[in-house]
Amino acid sequence: MPLTISHVVGARPNFMKAAPVVLGLGALGATQRLVHTGQHYSDQLSTIFFRELDLPQPDVNLEVGSGSHGQQTGALMIALERELVAHRPGLLVVYGDVNSTLAASIVAAKAGVPVAHVEAGLRSFDRSMPEEINRVVTDALADTLLTTSPEAEAHLRNEGVNAERIHFVGNPMIDTLLRHRSRFDADRLRARYGLSGPYGVVTLHRPSNVDDPIAAGRLSDAIRGLADLVPLVVPLHPRGRERLAAAGLVSGPTIQVVDPLGYIDFVSLVSGAALVATDSGGIQEETTILEVPCLTLRPNTERPITISHGTNRLVEPGDLVAVADQVLRRGPVAHRAPPLWDGQSGPRIAAILRDRLTALASGGVVEATSLGGRPIRSATV
Ligand code: UD1
Repeated sequence: MPLTISHVVGARPNFMKAAPVVLGLGALGATQRLVHTGQHYSDQLSTIFFRELDLPQPDVNLEVGSGSHGQQTGALMIALERELVAHRPGLLVVYGDVNSTLAASIVAAKAGVPVAHVEAGLRSFDRSMPEEINRVVTDALADTLLTTSPEAEAHLRNEGVNAERIHFVGNPMIDTLLRHRSRFDADRLRARYGLSGPYGVVTLHRPSNVDDPIAAGRLSDAIRGLADLVPLVVPLHPRGRERLAAAGLVSGPTIQVVDPLGYIDFVSLVSGAALVATDSGGIQEETTILEVPCLTLRPNTERPITISHGTNRLVEPGDLVAVADQVLRRGPVAHRAPPLWDGQSGPRIAAILRDRLTALASGGVVEATSLGGRPIRSATV
């Protein structure tokens, strides 16, 4: 029986990173298993991405759902441990920095299943972000570290990761963007929202921005100020919606607060925008390639290449209107695509994973550990 490569996905930003890897491994004839943890479960945060991105339906959905970090991560670990006992893969691939990524890495590392981390080595150096903790722990446990930008290798080397385990592969999220580019239709979205001239797009969902009423109030004021310059469409993640609404971010003559959009609609909307203001990581990368100015409402970014090569800049809420005014007057700015953001990351990653699986297999027996008190079979990989 050929050894399986399992993928763990769970939350919205995982899906567009996994799609090109699953596709690339499929082209190599690999045996794969797609595990959805169910961290995200709404149609607009999960199901729609499987319909839109040529991702196969998951082989299993663990239906873990929402909760506090401890509750959610604990539930993810319990469910993923059962999954690994029932379907032990030769290699487990995890994506990005969400709680599903962290839980899968911990469970697999303890079970002696080698982990490959796609999007390794990004660092904001801000441990108040749950994602930063997830990144550091995942990278410490991973066997194979696949990086999207050159500085990631330096971060990993500083943390003691052996250079042989680090592979610079470019950005699979950009594979997805380029693959679907012909489907992006800004005019359709303009018509939907009744926009005839320039418009902006705003998204907010970081806990540091939306969970604290003072921060939410400051941002809501800034965004209402921005709407005096340019009409805005604001697709809001369920997480921040209530608190931002309580802080005054509601629909009005120049603001349309709407539900989260699917991938094709969202990127279509962004592709026609005069600017984007966001606290998302992925959108900093997508706007870099779409050449849309991106104002990131955070004090730091783990993706500095979107500033050095792309259209991104970090903006304090109090400066948003002034910076947006400059951006709108200046129009589009020249940028250079970051190295290897060329649509070929999926095939690169697939080839590395296949080779790693082969090397592990020829290396003999990996020590199998016992899960939940029950010995699992000793695996020859
Ligand atoms: C998670 C990721 C974050 C990522 C974001 C993208 C972690 C720590 N955070 O944050 O890095 O940028 O996804 O969306 O993993 N909810 C729904 N429907 C869903 C899922 C969640 O309504 O399908 C609501 C629930 O009220 C839930 C809240 O959103 O409590 C937060 O969901 P959660 O998965 O805990 O984290 P996100 O904020 O989505």
